[in-house]
Amino acid sequence: MLWLKAFHIFFVVSWFAGLFYLPRIFVNHAMAEESAVKERLKLMERKLYKFVTPIGALAVITGLWLWFGFGFTGGWLHLKTTLVAGLVAYHLYCGHLVKVFAADRNTRSHVWFRFFNEVPVLVLLAVVILVVVKPF
Ligand code: HEM
Repeated sequence: MLWLKAFHIFFVVSWFAGLFYLPRIFVNHAMAEESAVKERLKLMERKLYKFVTPIGALAVITGLWLWFGFGFTGGWLHLKTTLVAGLVAYHLYCGHLVKVFAADRNTRSHVWFRFFNEVPVLVLLAVVILVVVKPF
């Protein structure tokens, strides 16, 4: 179980590297004017999303394996999994935004993307408190 949890935490941390960095690229893309800069950011967005998606899947798979394989229970796990479901939706929405930027169809401001960028930070804080403290 400890090996599985170690890999779970590894995949979680790697997933969050992408969830923190990709929206930051969106902030820069929403401010960019030069087409050479925009083309470079499109390439970075596409490659990063493609790289971090399987890692996110492995974070969820190892979490579910821990849950169902080792009999963890508790309200903390239900709320944690609900928050993680929201995180998966956030991830998929980032995938949609990669396509919107690739087609030069973005209409949102860089300010909007700065707030959007903070969502994973708040989810991470809540999930880590739930899984370590297990308050209920
Ligand atoms: C559906 C997705 C997930 C499920 C079902 C899940 C389930 C679990 C379970 C059962 C444990 C073991 C708890 C323990 O040993 O006390 C665990 C550990 C952990 N999970 Fe997840 N997890 C999921 C996704 C995530 C995500 C997205 C994060 C980060 C935001 C995360 C962060 C952690 C951490 C930090 C630990 C280690 C806690 C400790 O050692 O005390 N998990 N997870």
